[in-house]
Amino acid sequence: MGAPLFTVLDVEKTYRVGTTPGSSWFSAGQPRLLKALNGVRLEIAEGDSIALVGESGSGKSTLVRLMLGLEPATDGRLLYRQVDIGQFDRAARQTFRREVAFIYQDARGSMNPRMRIRAILAEPLRLYRLCPEPEIERRVLSLLEKVGLSADLADRYPSELSGGQVRRVAVARALAAEPKTIVADESVAGLDVSVQAQLLNLLRGLCREMGLTLIFITHDLGVASYLCTRIAVLYLGRIVEEGATADILHRPMHPYTQGLMRAFPSFGRPLTASLKGEIPSPIDLPAGCRFASRCPQAVPFCLTSDPVLKHPEDPDPNGARRVACHFPIRDILER
Ligand SMILES: Nc1ncnc2c1ncn2[C@@H]1O[C@H](COP(=O)(O)OP(=O)(O)OP(=O)(O)O)[C@@H](O)[C@H]1O
Ligand SMILES: [Mg+2]
Repeated sequence: MGAPLFTVLDVEKTYRVGTTPGSSWFSAGQPRLLKALNGVRLEIAEGDSIALVGESGSGKSTLVRLMLGLEPATDGRLLYRQVDIGQFDRAARQTFRREVAFIYQDARGSMNPRMRIRAILAEPLRLYRLCPEPEIERRVLSLLEKVGLSADLADRYPSELSGGQVRRVAVARALAAEPKTIVADESVAGLDVSVQAQLLNLLRGLCREMGLTLIFITHDLGVASYLCTRIAVLYLGRIVEEGATADILHRPMHPYTQGLMRAFPSFGRPLTASLKGEIPSPIDLPAGCRFASRCPQAVPFCLTSDPVLKHPEDPDPNGARRVACHFPIRDILER
């Protein structure tokens, strides 16, 4: 395992979302608080490839926004190379921006619509003075080539590209800064399977070739397992299971992970709605286990006692598994 890169220590993120209506004049107007992240603890080492997996609203994007220093945490600490992200001085912030590239969930929206692709790719090269001015054109074209796009796209605007092409430009722009880490938020979601496969192969190849650390957000376990050696499963603002990809897929120990895997389409097996019930509101979190309302094996104890994320008693051979469940599943999943 490489040196620690990101350390997330008991991070909380609470948003104020309006005020309560209230039944009388003195109970009205209390702030309503939404817990987007509720005690997240995670360590990412240099060279890791980790997928953050979970249903919509589980807090994946919020977690990376905090890790990138785009928003402050309400509580807890986030460290990059052992230094608190909130306490960076100017030089440290600049190094961080250069070393950690972010591919936004909305790739098209993250680009200036009035800039041509050439200018979009040249911007980080100039900003970080990565090459002399006469060399910029050549570097831009080589970035386009690297992501499998033809040179004539350089003259177009983002609105003149297809969804898959825009995502490739977003990858090229991330690579332009010669980062050490790529953080990608749903970078292949919504693309047709062949374009998705091309992009995944591209990212996987780049990470292996350049030894990049990859933090990849997805709600698709298949995508996660293809790209990443580790998976962290989020549910309602908390990591409920984390471990090596092969171990998690072979033997999910949290009922939520198992439900996610069963919900994942596979040939030769009928698709069932394995995750039943409603996700509780992050504004009004239950007192016990947050998954209890949907858990097929919940017992009364689960409704009152909140399980912590810890190594299960019966650990995986490499000992890296953590599960937040009072009764982790011991069976091996037959798929
Ligand atoms: N700025 C904000 N103000 C209020 N609530 C927010 C804000 N940003 C996120 N949330 C809420 O926090 C929770 C987590 O949101 P987040 O965007 O992190 O989820 P996600 O896992 O990335 O979902 P998706 O898969 O849909 O992108 C959601 O309930 C969301 O509504
Ligand atoms: Mg998101």
